[in-house]
Order: sequence, then C-alpha cells, then structure tokens
Amino acid sequence: MFVRGRRLRKKESIRNLVEETTISVNDLIFPIFLIDGKNKTEDIPSMPGVQRKTLDLHFHDINQAIKLGINAVILFPVIPKNKKNKKATEAINKNGLLPLSIKKIKKEFPELVIISDIALDPFNSDGHDGLVYKNEVLNDKTVDILCKQAIIHAQSGVDIVAPSDMMDGRVLKIRQKLDSKGFHDISIMSYAAKFASSLYGPFRDALNSSPKKGDKKTYQINPANSREAIKEILYDEAEGADMLIVKPASFYLDVIKEARDLSLLPIVAYQVSGEYSMIRTAADKGYLDLNDVMHESLLSIKRAGADMIITYFALEYAKLIRKN
Ligand code: PBG
Repeated sequence: MFVRGRRLRKKESIRNLVEETTISVNDLIFPIFLIDGKNKTEDIPSMPGVQRKTLDLHFHDINQAIKLGINAVILFPVIPKNKKNKKATEAINKNGLLPLSIKKIKKEFPELVIISDIALDPFNSDGHDGLVYKNEVLNDKTVDILCKQAIIHAQSGVDIVAPSDMMDGRVLKIRQKLDSKGFHDISIMSYAAKFASSLYGPFRDALNSSPKKGDKKTYQINPANSREAIKEILYDEAEGADMLIVKPASFYLDVIKEARDLSLLPIVAYQVSGEYSMIRTAADKGYLDLNDVMHESLLSIKRAGADMIITYFALEYAKLIRKN
C-alpha cells in the first residue's frame, strides 16, 4: 500500500486539526526560590534567567503568572548557612521563611494553589534530605520530622505538600498526621519516582544544598531502573498520595508513560534545573532556538503522559502561548 501521510501535513490548518498533544497554562507549575528580606534578587550562575528573590519581588511574578492563567506555584526556601544544622531544626520553625511566605502568598492570592516541598536538605548542614547519623541517612527519624514540617505548612495555608525526600513510608505517615490534625483537604503530591540524577546540580547551587558527603543513591532511585520506579509509584499511590511526580522528566519519558498507564492518579513531571539549564545555555549561545526547544521539550513530556509539568520555563512559556 502507498500511503500519502503528507495529506495530513499539507497546510497549517490541517496540521492543527490533527494535532494530538497540546499544552495549556493549566498544565504549568511555577517554581520559586525564596530568600529572606526585602527588595533583593540574586542570580544563580548555573541557572541563567532564574533568580532567588525576596517575597515582595516574587509577588510581581506571581501576579503576572496568575494573569497569564497559571494556577500553581511550588516554593523552595534558600536558608542561610548559619541557620542550617545537623538536626535541620529550621525545617520545623513555625516562623521560618517558608511558613511565613506561605501565609503571605495565601493572603495576597487566595485562589492560587500553593505547593511546598517537604524534605530536609535546604535546612540540613549535611545537605541530605534526611538526618545523617554515622554516615547513614536515617529513615524513620527523618519521617517524624517531615510529618511535623507538613503540619506546619498546612497550618500556614499550603494547599499541597510535596515530599521530595524519598524516605520510605513518608506518604502514609504524612497522610495520617495531616488527617489526625484535621487537614483532610491538604493533598499530597509525592515525588514518587525520583531518580538519583546528575541533573539536580543547578538546583543545589540555587539552595546551597549539595550533600556535604557522599551522594543520594541510598534513597533516590538508580537511573537504570524503571521497574523499581514503577514500584515506588504504585506504593506511593497505595500509601495515599493524590498525585505522583516523576523526576527528572526528559531523560525519563518512558517512566512517565508507564506511570500514566499504570496509575489512575494525575502524573506530574518535573523538568528539573539541569534540563532547564541545558536548554537555556544552548539557546543563550545561539546554538538552539529557545522558544522552539522550550516548546518541544514540554510537548514531549506531555506527549509521554504527564498531566502537569513543574518547569522553570513556566512564566516564559505562559507568556509565549498567551501571545500566540
Ligand atoms: C530536594 C529537591 C531537589 C530538587 C527538588 N527538591 C534536589 C535533590 O534531590 O538533590 C531538584 C529540583 C531541580 O533540580 O530542579 N529534596
């Protein structure tokens, strides 16, 4: 048979009709790096175009994001070195940067979905997502603190908590703790399949949160393992997660696809800092077209089956598609 596939590509209007995947502003989650104080911005050398900012300056961006139709932000606090310690106590400070920021954002933008990252690495002088004792990252003791952290965020007005630590059993424990305190309506967006990826480097620069010793391979998943990733996805669903994150996105499109096929929950893909920086830097050098590659990268992630994408391109991409 001689098939004329080109009939469906003959002109733009036909191509539009048969287009299978689209991205809308509804799919975008906007990540924010928070610093303490007022009217301050700091560049992040390994993430050109992304800045750490004080909340007052983020308000401007959030306002713009909402006007463009973005529904959600995810918050990452940058904690000064003198507030980090081995017990990560700043993680459960009710008056810490994150809880106070959640409160202020909620007050100013009550309709916005606020997502907070649950993990200890921004607060831990060891730079790990859990407490370190004799070179071991402790599971159950870490989970106890993560539960407290989740409650403080809930009390501050967060809509969704996103545990990114990869400790075992934390989704179940956080769900039980939230429910026991009456926070039945706070969702858990679990970083279920989080790989021990080399693509988080720029994020760790942004937060000054690189592990002081060793790597994260005893808790994050081996990049070689997709079955294990699916196991984590299914267990987090069973433990009570409301949404599941696959992270990073582009190098793990097979995992996104399989997660989409095997779970009925919304699948979130995190296009991480390294993915962002690779595209941004190549574009800055003039090797690639920023808008085209940004679009194609997000499209591939949606095509693989993601319902939502956490991306540092959120604001820029929203501007791009709103213009067209
Ligand atoms: C930490 C956390 C990380 C990211 C989100 N939460 C880094 C890590 O696990 O070391 C990475 C995000 C990115 O690279 O954009 N719990």
